[in-house]
Amino acid sequence: MSLTTLNAFKALHAHFRNLEQVHMKDMFARDPERATRYFLKVGNLSLDYSKNRIDDETLKLLRDLAQECALERKIEAMFSGEKINATEGRAVLHTALRKQTQEPVMVEGQDVMPKVREVLTRMADFSDAVRCGRWLGYTNQIITDVVNIGIGGSDLGALMVCKALKHYAHPRLNMYFVSNVDGIQIQSVLDKIHPETTLFIVASKTFSTQETLTNALSARAWFLAHAHDTRHIAKHFVALSTNKQAVQDFGIDTANMFEFWSWVGGRYSLWSAIGLSIMIYLGKENFQALLQGAFEMDIHFRSTPFEHNMPVILALLGIWYVNFFDAGSHLIAPYDQYLRYFPRFIQQLDMESNGKRTTLGGEVVDYDTGPIIWGDIGINSQHAFFQLLHQGTHLTPIDFIASLSKEGNLPGHHEILLSNVFAQAEAFMKGKGYHEVLNQMLEKGMSLERARALAPHRVFSGNRPSNMLLLDAITPKSIGSLVALYEHKIFVQGAIWDINSFDQWGVELGKELAKDILVQLREGSAQNPHDSSTQHLINLYKIYNKGVLHADQE
Ligand code: F6P
Repeated sequence: MSLTTLNAFKALHAHFRNLEQVHMKDMFARDPERATRYFLKVGNLSLDYSKNRIDDETLKLLRDLAQECALERKIEAMFSGEKINATEGRAVLHTALRKQTQEPVMVEGQDVMPKVREVLTRMADFSDAVRCGRWLGYTNQIITDVVNIGIGGSDLGALMVCKALKHYAHPRLNMYFVSNVDGIQIQSVLDKIHPETTLFIVASKTFSTQETLTNALSARAWFLAHAHDTRHIAKHFVALSTNKQAVQDFGIDTANMFEFWSWVGGRYSLWSAIGLSIMIYLGKENFQALLQGAFEMDIHFRSTPFEHNMPVILALLGIWYVNFFDAGSHLIAPYDQYLRYFPRFIQQLDMESNGKRTTLGGEVVDYDTGPIIWGDIGINSQHAFFQLLHQGTHLTPIDFIASLSKEGNLPGHHEILLSNVFAQAEAFMKGKGYHEVLNQMLEKGMSLERARALAPHRVFSGNRPSNMLLLDAITPKSIGSLVALYEHKIFVQGAIWDINSFDQWGVELGKELAKDILVQLREGSAQNPHDSSTQHLINLYKIYNKGVLHADQE
């Protein structure tokens, strides 16, 4: 049965018609309790969701929709290891990676928890050894630089967490992330480091990703050009993967491999061996706190009634805007420099999960699903693209994210930051009407004629929704909870849209075609005939580079 035919969906539609014209500022004026009623605190995270175009009836109907979509049962199915990733026949158990209690988690009749703990212990031992200088390079020097080579889920999560928690980092260690197959990126890192004091972490779930393997091969060649002996590789290269054979084939000893499993989705993998760079950089205690924060959000999500359930509420609000207000995008705006990679991380998490148009039953949906996720540091964005959000024609719901603690910031800076984020949320909600604008100009002595001409340009319609997410402080625990919050929000939306949030078939076609085009660019003949535009582009490249030999032809 399609989502749009459900009773709650139809009721929401009728309700939307009533609420569409209501302005949030009037709802605030009528209801002095609104800010405290639409507020939640879970662990170190506070959520003010009062600046949304909702009332109690909206929330009730959205919860009815969740019930009608059997959300409770679906949540249990995920936590208990059912193979909810149906198109890949896999369980989805990133929650097992951060589980802090002793009960087993069964996959195909086997408790996965002993293996999870075993790998965590190996990671802790290894990261301790690197951090305290026990792990030495081939010339007995301590490691000073760590390079994570990976892409997508094998890059973004670890990168985001390392940047967010940089203030916890080991003072001796420099952490680099290489993801782009454009050689400029790895070269710029190699230029800064030394083979005798560098550890390369090759992170790839499949260990078949072209970009990662190409970068890893270049790193290996650079290393061997100095070390001259492949036996030294063992001291400087480790692998994070689910694919032992491919790791071995690549030339990394499996003793230097940290394993994870097919039931960990790439974009949900920072809690697994993929988090090794985090553990090395921040230490095992901080990695443990990250897991603890996520675990606490898991407990909250699994056991709290929908009415007070933070991920469920965020998800339902998103559904409200996508399916009833036709909001095609959603902005993530952190007001904290530490969180500058957070929008990019959520972009993969959300769009690779819910950018789908086929239901679990194989039908094409007749409703919208995952919105385009975009974002950047909020304060900078105010001076760049917020204009469109305030006065443009699109409705874009916003998640503002900030930290309450001003500790560590320069005197006076944090108040400026927070005054801006609070002001933006207020401005988006309230707007500024024609008469207020006109009177302000007249009070300043402008002529009536000029004021009337200018007023329409200075009007803010307001009624633009936002959530305000406040972390007590940017700590490993609060970052763990924040990431788990979004993971579960995305899960809930996928469950309601009846799509598989855990596969990513949409990335395959491009990979397939690129393989064939690569053969052509390197002078070989095409396996498949291309369209005339693609063929033209290939020819253009070849003509331009005529006479320039490719590296492996030199
Ligand atoms: O191409 C998409 C993708 O498969 C992501 O889902 C994944 O996070 C990324 O590539 C990297 O894959 P791997 O970890 O197997 O190298």
